[in-house]
Amino acid sequence: MTIFDTAPDAPDSDADTSDSAPLVIRRPTVHDGGAMWRVARDSGSLDLNSSYSYLLLADHFADTCRIALLGDDVVGFVTGYRLPADPSRYFLWQVAVDAAARGRRLAGRLVDAVIDDLDGVTSLTTTVTEDNLASRAVFRRWADERGATLAETDGFTTEHFPDGHEAEPLLVITGF
Ligand SMILES: CC(C)(COP(=O)(O)OP(=O)(O)OC[C@H]1O[C@@H](n2cnc3c(N)ncnc32)[C@H](O)[C@@H]1OP(=O)(O)O)[C@@H](O)C(=O)NCCC(=O)NCCS
Repeated sequence: MTIFDTAPDAPDSDADTSDSAPLVIRRPTVHDGGAMWRVARDSGSLDLNSSYSYLLLADHFADTCRIALLGDDVVGFVTGYRLPADPSRYFLWQVAVDAAARGRRLAGRLVDAVIDDLDGVTSLTTTVTEDNLASRAVFRRWADERGATLAETDGFTTEHFPDGHEAEPLLVITGF
């Protein structure tokens, strides 16, 4: 299965015909922000940010975010941005796939779609809690498939958070 990520107006169609509706990965628009918020809300483990923040991401950061659709339904997304101080570094904020659409490596394909379209990006940074094994597997596999290096550092520790939030170790993938 291949995702071809081309241009904002040219969705990335998936050749997978195993579902009744074809899978498409594309940039979001402001109209998709609400659905992204819903996917985050229903994910079971993500921090749910304000609905306003998903509209901002979909509208202002569309180049560095992607959504996955089955038919008209948004079933997954990845959000992130280039670090303002170093645009060669992509920070992946959140990735989520609806429970019904899991098991097809959709998160990895969302990451492929956004990274492969970003000129000059040489590293991917994200944070993943210790217990998020599915997410860790996604990034481990993504790095392995590209022959990349995955390093882990402390990232955001419990002392950084004001509200008892668990630690968010930093994963940095380079060499892809
Ligand atoms: C993380 C997430 C996006 C992955 O969705 P997906 O792309 O459908 O993932 P898949 O089901 O195809 O599984 C991807 C890998 O995780 C592994 N995995 C899935 N669920 C797992 C679990 N509960 N425990 C351990 N590993 C698990 C799979 O075996 C697979 O590993 P492999 O590629 O080495 O075979 C999805 O689980 C999710 O939305 N979780 C909630 C949101 C979240 O935690 N996001 C990440 C933090 S930003």
